[in-house]
Amino acid sequence: MILGVNVDHIATIREARKGAEPDPVMAATLAILGGADGITVHLREDRRHIKDRDLKLLRETAPVELNLEMAATDEMIRIALSVKPDMVTFVPEKRQELTTEGGLDLVSQKTNIAKAIKKIRGAGIPVSLFINPFVMDVDIAKNIGADMVEIHTGLYANAKGPKQKGELLRVVDAVKVAGQSGLKANAGHGLNYFNVTAVAGIEGLRGLYIGHSIVSRAVLVGMERAVREMKGLIK
Ligand code: PXP
Repeated sequence: MILGVNVDHIATIREARKGAEPDPVMAATLAILGGADGITVHLREDRRHIKDRDLKLLRETAPVELNLEMAATDEMIRIALSVKPDMVTFVPEKRQELTTEGGLDLVSQKTNIAKAIKKIRGAGIPVSLFINPFVMDVDIAKNIGADMVEIHTGLYANAKGPKQKGELLRVVDAVKVAGQSGLKANAGHGLNYFNVTAVAGIEGLRGLYIGHSIVSRAVLVGMERAVREMKGLIK
């Protein structure tokens, strides 16, 4: 099972001061030293966290799979064709959202996304689609030429009690159908240190893409050392 680490939140902290630190490129290096098999960044239309500069530097420096999450717009396609990440994941994007809220609406967007897939795959870059855990969406992803799907685990992550089991089963089914149709299947969103094990146990899953909980934990487990180092400087 591969682990792709999303470093967007490091850039979110940087953008709180619009300065240079913390640098998501440095964070990516440390994540790789920790065992990350891939690094994911979401270059948003409004550049609220990851910047073009981050993507370019990661392309030059990251020795692991670089996954570019993006909307299927002309601007982003142009950038992907120029930077050439190891894979592109198409995600829906709304300006007002705090984070990606759900999978692609493949029913209404399939023509646009099919065209975008063709352009990216034409440059030899594999394409994944971030989709809700619906068998119908897996089928559409296959029909419009995707190489992979990333099954949205947000509903599972947010559900509690017996409902969570039901949501897990939807992810299991989507992964199974993806495998049967020849699509590679990944999963992500909302996974954390408490809920990841059940998802990691799903047969046929290629990888997990995780950001918020890893960055949140990094902030806490690094706090003691950061304060000790500052204390050392001012004593
Ligand atoms: N996968 C996709 C497609 C995403 O948009 C995100 C969030 O940027 C993630 C995975 C990671 O989600 P989280 O930050 O909740 O781990």
